[in-house]
Amino acid sequence: MLTMVVGSGYLGGRIGARMRALGGRAVLCSRRPPTARSAAGTEWRELDVRDPVSCGDAVSRVAPDALVIVHGPSDITWCERHPQQAMAVHGAGASNLVAAAGGRPLLLISTDNVFPGTRHSYGESDPVESANAYGRAKLAGERTLLDTGNALVLRVSLVYGWDPDGHRPNYFTTCVRGLRDGRPVEAPVDHWNTPVLVDDVAAWSAALLEAGRTGVLHLGGPERLSRHEWAGRIAKGLGLDDGPIRPVDKAGTAYACRPSNACLHSERAADLPELAGLRPVDVDEGTRRLAAAALDQPRSAKDRL
Ligand SMILES: NC(=O)c1ccc[n+]([C@@H]2O[C@H](COP(=O)([O-])OP(=O)(O)OC[C@H]3O[C@@H](n4cnc5c(N)ncnc54)[C@H](OP(=O)(O)O)[C@@H]3O)[C@@H](O)[C@H]2O)c1
Repeated sequence: MLTMVVGSGYLGGRIGARMRALGGRAVLCSRRPPTARSAAGTEWRELDVRDPVSCGDAVSRVAPDALVIVHGPSDITWCERHPQQAMAVHGAGASNLVAAAGGRPLLLISTDNVFPGTRHSYGESDPVESANAYGRAKLAGERTLLDTGNALVLRVSLVYGWDPDGHRPNYFTTCVRGLRDGRPVEAPVDHWNTPVLVDDVAAWSAALLEAGRTGVLHLGGPERLSRHEWAGRIAKGLGLDDGPIRPVDKAGTAYACRPSNACLHSERAADLPELAGLRPVDVDEGTRRLAAAALDQPRSAKDRL
């Protein structure tokens, strides 16, 4: 299978790598060449989703069997400050990609931010109501894709992994760096997530695309944790001093515009045979798998929220 992966960042690079590991071919597409180590060795092509001509050209040249849509902006706080730009990329971008795809299967990586976060966790049958500008933009993209009848919207909870060379390393990476350096780690006690390991997102994406699934599916990790609890589990799992962890309230931090409960569960996944054997791991197992890489890296002050 030849997959065109639109977005060559943290998630796109790992999804492309998974496709290749399974014997397929992947071409990453974005405005600039990828910098992530996970994208090394994967083919790349220039594409701006805001431009219908650029989308059409890229699809013609790559001639993929299917498209995975996993582009930014992914910075929720930036989207809140730039709602029109966020909508232009995620909303209009979806229309451009649908037109360019010409009926090929599509998989969109979406988000828990399409829900208000007033309940502990959300399943596929729960009504959407976006919590913020990012959620509204992603929801517009979801609707455009689902209207084709040929798309899967995979809503994913907060993704983590060891990502030292990303532009905005994820919360796991940020925590590990702070703990190792003895720098304060801001950890909201009232922001809840179901963290999911990036390798699990890549594995589900590849399996679901191969199976030709459509509609909406949720992927969250098996545990609902506050960021504060999660930071403590990371420290314990890596044998690091938890002294730098600072319990804070979400309000007044960069997390303020996020739903309090950014948690997903699936009502559907257990019935899908292609996901048998791909149960998402909990944060302790995720930490264990990442430990060797995370404890072996040089220090840096980069941050992703
Ligand atoms: N990370 C998570 O925890 C998470 C959770 C749920 C859902 N998601 C979804 O997954 C998507 C990707 O997340 P990520 O963490 O991989 O983000 P990321 O690391 O910021 O990567 C975003 C990618 O999108 C590309 N991009 C941005 N604007 C573009 C445009 N106009 N045209 C083409 N490519 C463009 C970027 O490259 P250029 O800037 O060079 O174009 C980059 O390669 C997000 O939008 C989000 O909705 C992420």
